[in-house]
Amino acid sequence: MAEEKVLEELGTVESSEAAYAVHWKEEDYYHPSPEFIGQANMTDPGIFERFSLENFPDCFREYAELLDWDQYWHTTLDTSDAPCWKWFVGGRLNACYNCVDRHLARYKNKTAIHFVPEPEDEPIQHITYQELYRRVNEVAAVLRDFCGLKTGDRVTLYLPMTPELPITMLACARLGVIHSVVFAGFSGQACGDRIWDSESRVLITIDGYYRNGKLLDHKANADVAVETASNQNVNVEKVLVWKRYKDRYVSQAPMVEGRDYFMNDVLKNYARATVEPVSMPAEGILFLMYTSGSTGKPKGAQHSIGGYLSYVAAMSKYVQDIHPEDVYWCMADIGWITGHSFIVYGPLAVAASSVIYEGVPTYPDAGRLWRIAEELDVNIFHTAPTTIRMLRKAGPDEPLKYNYKFKHMTTVGEPIEPEVWKWYYHVVGKGKAVIVDTWWQTETGGFLCSTVPALKPMKPGSAGPGVPGIHPVIYDDEGNEIPPGAGKAGNICIRNPWPGLMQTIWKDRDRFVSTYFGKYNKDPNSKDWRDWPYMAGDAAVMAADGYVRILGRVDDVINVAGHRLGTKEIESAALTVEEIAEAAVIAAVDELRGRIPHLYVSLKPGYEPSKEIEDKVSNAVATILGKIARPGRVFIVPDMPKTRSGKIMRRILAAISNRGDVGDVTTLANPDVVEAIRTQVQG
Ligand code: PRX
Repeated sequence: MAEEKVLEELGTVESSEAAYAVHWKEEDYYHPSPEFIGQANMTDPGIFERFSLENFPDCFREYAELLDWDQYWHTTLDTSDAPCWKWFVGGRLNACYNCVDRHLARYKNKTAIHFVPEPEDEPIQHITYQELYRRVNEVAAVLRDFCGLKTGDRVTLYLPMTPELPITMLACARLGVIHSVVFAGFSGQACGDRIWDSESRVLITIDGYYRNGKLLDHKANADVAVETASNQNVNVEKVLVWKRYKDRYVSQAPMVEGRDYFMNDVLKNYARATVEPVSMPAEGILFLMYTSGSTGKPKGAQHSIGGYLSYVAAMSKYVQDIHPEDVYWCMADIGWITGHSFIVYGPLAVAASSVIYEGVPTYPDAGRLWRIAEELDVNIFHTAPTTIRMLRKAGPDEPLKYNYKFKHMTTVGEPIEPEVWKWYYHVVGKGKAVIVDTWWQTETGGFLCSTVPALKPMKPGSAGPGVPGIHPVIYDDEGNEIPPGAGKAGNICIRNPWPGLMQTIWKDRDRFVSTYFGKYNKDPNSKDWRDWPYMAGDAAVMAADGYVRILGRVDDVINVAGHRLGTKEIESAALTVEEIAEAAVIAAVDELRGRIPHLYVSLKPGYEPSKEIEDKVSNAVATILGKIARPGRVFIVPDMPKTRSGKIMRRILAAISNRGDVGDVTTLANPDVVEAIRTQVQG
């Protein structure tokens, strides 16, 4: 099979996940029901013609017109600073106004956010658009008047899945303050590094939150974050601490006099305050979202106001098919891009009622999600393959016991195996809901490939073609196009810019240009967008029908349970352990989590392998980066397989972990070590 041959070639890319992609066969199409089509937001097949490259870039006006603008733009796309594209130049708007204020006239008594606490005996909170408006205004007043924050300042939000997170984000957006949300599951140190990079003078956090039946002390982590940033000369002047329960403080960490303030107390001085939304240029910055790349330093993807919001609003309306009457539930964490785009900004821009669930999907049992869906009458459901695999394992028949009815479901974040897709379709969706498999990235703001659900059939395991306005292409390493249907994998790129694409990497334009455009740019001085295809960093195959199947990352990134981790970050964390001389991490295939990190380490002279050292390494990674990065296995090996020039051959370690073919090792500097490691790992 041609595809297998190319997968072998891709296997030479170090630490490539794609090298271990399962070899899938072509799957049959599944069609949306007439009932779904009858109610869908987008049923006009002409949309693809309207968004053809001939109509680029003006086609994107159609998305921007979903928003309310204070002032219309004069230039749809400005390419003068290629490839830092500027969209809707001259336009002015406010993101918070578009997600909240403009809905009041029709929907003020409608629920904007249903907050479901993890403890099942705590009542669900239903926050109407009117209440959201009031709470966002009060928080905006605190940020402006108590913290002195103004347009363009950065503020770090280290908050879990409670309504305080979107409320604080929207308050920032109201002022034109740039938020940088750090996933609450990241360690305090990881948060501190992001505070440092964004130079945030204010940190907003919470005392604690529930996960898996435990009340976690989050303020203690926030203190570590502040200390980490201050060790790098960024002093956080104010820490605002939300309380999980209004009447008690659930953290053991002391409040620091003159630095830490309870948000709930400060808010009392701003009861019913209103703050005018600041009219921002379309090209202003809405937020930074840090993500892992091929160096040890996470990069701050910088997203615009006008372009980003137009794009996610359109994706929520046309791909997710959200109507104001729907109850929409995305299970992602707001601390990742999925939550930003598809819990907060996209759904609220289209006046959705959006569910926020604090806890883990299977707590206290595999029926929890379906009870929530039944109680709130959720009809649009959005989650990741890892969660679907977990739910399938924990309670394969559970969904059928509950009387909820989904019309639409999304999968995102990792490739989904066709048999997992089919369980999602038949059991979770009860054979009635459409599924969109949305492929995209932190950098891209919104979806790149997916079916438009009423217009294109589904194909298990394939994301689909480009969404309207996105023109994907697969290039080989030399920059030749691999035609659809060739059965050959290559690097997936997007031919054209689009409004959701990040503006740049915060404070690092060079890294932005080289990472995403370096390989296939035709002329570094060109101002013509055709010369700047965007390289996503994923390997993919495009079938004859234009549907794209994503195989995995081709760079030093591992996608663990849908969470993106940099191999260099994990390796650097391992190297902080005194005994460790060298470290190499690879992506091992895992039945539930898709990929998990296996960490190979060698010791400095004078140390002997031991369980204690393994644990030390594993704990160091969890402390420095967060529990999600904890390696599935740590192997202390006598030496790393190396080329004659001393480069560690991660590909060989990956082949050993995945019981694949290590290939020809005779040219290595130390070929004997390969067999020794294989025996150690595989037994
Ligand atoms: O490898 C792709 C995978 O997740 C990467 C992006 O990760 P992140 O920036 O954290 O964003 C995750 C949420 C969009 C991609 O480079 N990925 C994302 N969606 C899919 C996917 N792989 C296969 N199928 C998808 N639907």
